[in-house]
Amino acid sequence: MDDATSSNQPPRGLGRNAANYGDRDFALYLRRSFAKSMGYSQAMLDRPVIGIADTGSDFNNCHRTAPELVEAVKRGVLAAGGLPLAFPTVSLCEPFLHPCSMHYRNLMALDTEALLRAQPMDSAVLVGGCDKTVPAQLMAAVSADIPAVQLVVGPMLATRFEGERLSACTDCRRYWARYRAGEVDAARIGRIEGNLATTAGTCGVMGTASTMACLAATLGFMPLEAASVPAVHADRLRLAEEAGALAVRLIAQPVRPREIVTPESVENALRVLLALGGSTNALIHLTAIAGRCGVKVDLRRLDALSEETPVLVDLKPTGEGYMEDFHAAGGLRALLRELRDLLHLGCKDLYGRTLEQRIAEGPEFVDRAIIRARAEPVSPVGGLVALFGSLAPAGAILKRSAATPALFETEARCVVFDGLEDLAARIDDEALDVTPRDILVLKNAGPRTPAGMPEAGYLPIPRKLARAGVKDMVRISDCRMSGTAFGTIVLHVAPEAAAGGPLALARTGDRIRLSVRERRLDLLVEESELARRREEWRPPPAPARGWDRLVHEQVLQATEGADLAFLRPEGR
Ligand code: FES
Ligand code: MG
Repeated sequence: MDDATSSNQPPRGLGRNAANYGDRDFALYLRRSFAKSMGYSQAMLDRPVIGIADTGSDFNNCHRTAPELVEAVKRGVLAAGGLPLAFPTVSLCEPFLHPCSMHYRNLMALDTEALLRAQPMDSAVLVGGCDKTVPAQLMAAVSADIPAVQLVVGPMLATRFEGERLSACTDCRRYWARYRAGEVDAARIGRIEGNLATTAGTCGVMGTASTMACLAATLGFMPLEAASVPAVHADRLRLAEEAGALAVRLIAQPVRPREIVTPESVENALRVLLALGGSTNALIHLTAIAGRCGVKVDLRRLDALSEETPVLVDLKPTGEGYMEDFHAAGGLRALLRELRDLLHLGCKDLYGRTLEQRIAEGPEFVDRAIIRARAEPVSPVGGLVALFGSLAPAGAILKRSAATPALFETEARCVVFDGLEDLAARIDDEALDVTPRDILVLKNAGPRTPAGMPEAGYLPIPRKLARAGVKDMVRISDCRMSGTAFGTIVLHVAPEAAAGGPLALARTGDRIRLSVRERRLDLLVEESELARRREEWRPPPAPARGWDRLVHEQVLQATEGADLAFLRPEGR
């Protein structure tokens, strides 16, 4: 064991961060003696320590393979001369958290950062995958700034079912919408329920988990192919071994997270997000990760990038394919090659290789049905646009690649729901005064509310309209939507209603104007009337205690990544 008392080198391995209450050698002696109780040989305890953040949980189906991935990481660490020590952290899986997983992303980031700092380790492998886990782990890694390799669990496989393929969760929504419309009966929706997610791994489309995996690889936290190797493919275990070996190499040649999260690499990640037609949530997460080292993601810059970055990947929810198709088609490397002239090619990864070197490696094969050539894009412009205006002074987002172009220029009356309870109580009411031309508005569901900015922005089409065949309407909210959803849905309106944004003042019967062409979102109500309503507005009460209280006091708006203010560098 490295012992700082006998050398001027900073302590390594189990010697790191030992307490010093006047007799540091005693603390080290105690730690060694407890470590020995686990049966490790002295030779093992003398090795550098690689912490493995293990997010296996019985509440996380997506991470069902975490135990074997952790074992494979350990093999890689041991073979490279390190001592692997796995530790549990908060694990978040989309369907199992109340009020929603987003409410706990920052808790996982805080927990992971604290353990990366507190426990004696020289580098780490972060096993993540489901939507909020990778952002939380990267936020933690950037803040702790110790060498850290991201290992994602990988996407699930699609399932063959009655002549088509199904995978979570675009098909979940497609079939549920048909069930609500009366086109699919209860028996069939029951059979579909058992066939939407049939393997371990993250949702099999270009939802948030897949998008974040692609962004983590683009930033340089893992190899490019690691973004898409299926969860159950043997290569996934080889990638885990390699992640362990890389974590050991990083001790001798450290590349710290803050060296690879730079304005240029973040811009590359934004390009990839746009070209993927990726998840709107990934924008919030990337903003939060970058914000941890003072790199700002500006919505106006995103908008400019969107104008010159085509959507090239034909995957659900914007297109047709599944993640296994993306992987077989050449994956992220093939996409980056296609975007080459738009990228900062000098950005380095954890191996110290430039993006130019990374995309030059690997096979040439590309399946153009899934990863299009620049000359034949899925869409000539990027998947996301930012909107500004009197209803969203700090900005809002629309995923135009998943929206209905005929609704891009809409001026209409709005029907307002005051919060999630109001939405649930009235949306399917036969007496609801709503027409297909109306704009549906949901407020009080932003990051500062007890709801925690859920994926409620995909407001259901009122049942009576769905039955009449209405497939899409303009919907506006201060919350999010699933990366696997689709529709003309304006999200992340900032400032949110609970923070006193203009959205708080919107009322049923007001007129709203959406113009994607002009990037505008305006509430067409006289200023004098808005002033009167502002006088009447009262902020929602603060939760009494605990995590909810901390979120309420500290959470930033979506445009700032919905991080907690005191965790950002400027909050220190
Ligand atoms: Fe985990 Fe979709 S529920 S990735
Ligand atoms: Mg999701």
